[in-house]
Amino acid sequence: MLFNPLKIRKVFFRNRIAVSPMCQYSSHDGFANDWHIVHYGSRAVGGAALVMTEAAAVEARGRISPYDLGIWKDDHISTLKLITDNIERQGAVAGIQLAHAGRKASVARPSEGGSPLNELNGGWKVVAPGAIPFDAGFQIPDVLDLPEIKNVIDSFVKAAQRAQTAGFRVIELHAAHGYLLHEFLSPVSNRRTDLYGGSFENRTRIVLEVVRGIRKAIPDLVFFVRISATDWLEPEGWTLDNSVALSRILKDEGVDLVDCSSGAVVPYAKIPATPGFQVPFAEMIRKETGILTGAVGLITSSVQAEAILQAGQADFILVGRQFLRDPYWPLRAAQELNLKGLWPFQYGRAH
Ligand code: FNR
Repeated sequence: MLFNPLKIRKVFFRNRIAVSPMCQYSSHDGFANDWHIVHYGSRAVGGAALVMTEAAAVEARGRISPYDLGIWKDDHISTLKLITDNIERQGAVAGIQLAHAGRKASVARPSEGGSPLNELNGGWKVVAPGAIPFDAGFQIPDVLDLPEIKNVIDSFVKAAQRAQTAGFRVIELHAAHGYLLHEFLSPVSNRRTDLYGGSFENRTRIVLEVVRGIRKAIPDLVFFVRISATDWLEPEGWTLDNSVALSRILKDEGVDLVDCSSGAVVPYAKIPATPGFQVPFAEMIRKETGILTGAVGLITSSVQAEAILQAGQADFILVGRQFLRDPYWPLRAAQELNLKGLWPFQYGRAH
């Protein structure tokens, strides 16, 4: 099944393997450059059906680090277009993840230590649902008021329109990993008492407003939403039951696939990261709601990926770090599963 094609709306995927979004921390002022063109293009040559870019910030202050990819201004479109053209010419579908880092924004890139930055040392003021820092040493965020929430929603919708102009055919909304949208979802980071906090309905409001805005602006796009299916703080955090309930609504709102990650809203949750540890979330959401799901997290072998699909646990396999080790992972996986003839003809003499 790993190499069975899949059609979602009008978009044809040649197999079930996607490059999971992974920050490259290689942009200046949000602009894509040669690194992105080569990096993403290589994974398209390597056989992925969907090559998803890293988190692209919908506002400059929504970047994790100063070097994040951005899509907050029209000027970003032309270099993004070079990426999508390159990916699509190699037979893969180009996707982009739209993100706002909220209270986890403004940190140094990992290769420079990853510490929080402020306005005096190259960072900027961060915003969040509440004045609760992510961890010791992180900024106390500015609290988004109602007009500012409207602006953030508008930034996501405008970013989606730019993504479409740039040629992306899949858009993934990043509502996971403790970034802004997840900060609204989780009761541990959202203690608001207005329309955007308190009840499940209120905490999910911003996500649903963004989803509706994007779906209305771009009716034909293939639309994924990445969630942290649990905060690993049950029962007081965001729970798997909450994720099932949200996914049911997302399906009704025209979302095509829920990409099931987990955690990262607080630094102290204990996460049992073993091979395929998040797959049961994709399975549960798929079975309970009927929406397509993506499985991600420590999926590194062809046999493991095939078994997930065979067991009906997910529809797409998102692969992260294994793609950093090996851009040709899908082609090797095909060989392991005894499928022949997938390597590009240019490399034929080696296979
Ligand atoms: C990530 N991850 C990630 N997730 C996401 O939703 N948006 C992002 O931009 C990033 N950036 C990122 C950068 C790097 C260097 C890594 C290693 C990871 C998480 C990633 O998409 C994936 O969910 C996890 O890495 C787990 O999958 P693997 O790596 O075990 O296959």
